[in-house]
Amino acid sequence: MNKTKIKITNLYKIFGNNSKKYISSVRDGMSKDELLSKYNHVLGLDNINLNVEDQSIQVVMGLSGSGKSTLIRHINRLIEPTEGTVTVDGEDITKLNKMDLLEFRRNKTGMVFQRFALFPHQNILDNVQFGLSIKNLDKSDSIERAMYWIEKVGLTGFENKFPNQLSGGMQQRVGLARALATDPDILLMDEAFSALDPLIRTDMQDQLLELQKNLKKTIMFITHDLDEALKLGDRISILNGGKLVQDGNAEEILLKPADQYVANFVKDVNRIKVLKIKTILDQGGERANSNPTVNVNDSIENCLPAILESQSGLNVIDEKNNFVGSVSKNKIIDILQKSKD
Ligand SMILES: Nc1ncnc2c1ncn2[C@@H]1O[C@H](COP(=O)(O)OP(=O)(O)OP(=O)(O)O)[C@@H](O)[C@H]1O
Ligand SMILES: [Mg+2]
Repeated sequence: MNKTKIKITNLYKIFGNNSKKYISSVRDGMSKDELLSKYNHVLGLDNINLNVEDQSIQVVMGLSGSGKSTLIRHINRLIEPTEGTVTVDGEDITKLNKMDLLEFRRNKTGMVFQRFALFPHQNILDNVQFGLSIKNLDKSDSIERAMYWIEKVGLTGFENKFPNQLSGGMQQRVGLARALATDPDILLMDEAFSALDPLIRTDMQDQLLELQKNLKKTIMFITHDLDEALKLGDRISILNGGKLVQDGNAEEILLKPADQYVANFVKDVNRIKVLKIKTILDQGGERANSNPTVNVNDSIENCLPAILESQSGLNVIDEKNNFVGSVSKNKIIDILQKSKD
């Protein structure tokens, strides 16, 4: 288990001119609707508590207006909390003065938006170098670093082109390269892939996962799309009306939805396809020679033939062929039964 990178504690955000005044009413249970109709203030976040593990991908989901962007913007304090704290590496960033906040944003966080937010009159190289200009690198180091990231996102040869000469997917790669070029610990991605065509989107998801294997950033990733959430998220937080209604891994979200709202989100998901062996793995134990062996990254669907021929379950190995644990046959049968609901 990694350490906590970002810790959000009792975080409230009320939008309006007199937001502090309504904190106690909200704490006493005043609803978002009532706050709006009676006092013309908007409840953005309602007592959020969340720990984001270092080097993990934390997905945030929820319907439009549920508070996703508001939450992610608290991490680099583009939005000031009405109450509560956000700590990064143990440091309370809600207490940083202006200078320290700027330093923090520059050095620790990178942001990727839905609309790529590139500078139209600068070429790709300059767009990627954008965050480096304030880092006091000399020109050749800055170019070298930008070119490295341009290559990493597969855009070598396009460095002298302008954004409008690139497709949406390519522009989003530039956005990603720009965010990564400053080498931030934390990547904040707000619907970063939502404007892309499905195929390109899948491609970007794969690329992000591939990069993350080595980069090991802490990524907060907002999406509307459950498949994307399940594919990318080590953990998934679900917001409803500014409240965090569930935070869990894919298995918990799919098999134990906390309420009807979450259940509605996941009702059409093909659990067998989406759930991976790694999410239902019982770690450790002994290899059972009578059972077949599968890979930790296999989907349950792919392992169904192995389940059929198994005695009591499956041995599970990682990418390096090391035994990492097992999955019991009963557990899979249980999931199969739940999937029929
Ligand atoms: N600057 C603001 N002033 C007033 N209300 C705001 C402001 N920003 C956000 N809100 C309100 O806060 C709530 C949460 O908004 P937020 O933008 O975080 O939602 P979201 O989950 O990101 O939605 P979407 O999926 O549409 O991007 C909404 O009710 C919204 O109207
Ligand atoms: Mg949003």
